[in-house]
Amino acid sequence: MKTVLFVCLGNICRSPMAEAVLKKKVEERGLENQFEIDSAGTSGYHAGEPADRRMREHGEKRGYQVTSISRPFKKSDFKDFGLIVVMDEQNMMDVKSMADTEEDLQKLRMMTDYCTQYAYDKVPDPYYGGAQGFDLVIDLLEDACEGLLEREF
Ligand code: 4NP
Repeated sequence: MKTVLFVCLGNICRSPMAEAVLKKKVEERGLENQFEIDSAGTSGYHAGEPADRRMREHGEKRGYQVTSISRPFKKSDFKDFGLIVVMDEQNMMDVKSMADTEEDLQKLRMMTDYCTQYAYDKVPDPYYGGAQGFDLVIDLLEDACEGLLEREF
């Protein structure tokens, strides 16, 4: 099984959207039986909640169903996932601080490092901004998910 976990702060905007985008790309390639794709947040502030309504609506307009329920990142995710892909430097530091082994650290990736069309060093947090921020998140995630499939699998 190919296993990918996306991580952001709240697990209600960026990482659930990343999960939906990668799942759709995998389904379009007919590979859904080979992948396990999930998402989590470095904070538990929104645990148990569906994704932010604005993120779900922007996703739907572009053909994505964002259905995941927020959950906090946990240490056992290092054992359960082969790739752990974060959205910004703070996420990277927070996840790194929970790693126990060199093997754990080697699973970490920055989402924007997979981008080939956009030059960003993070997927900016859209939570406190306007509609443009949500569209930019989807643009970056679509680009990065293509690169991720190309480079990792
Ligand atoms: P996310 O966005 O990390 O992309 O899910 C955020 C969601 C909630 C908050 C911050 C960022 N918050 O502060 O509640």
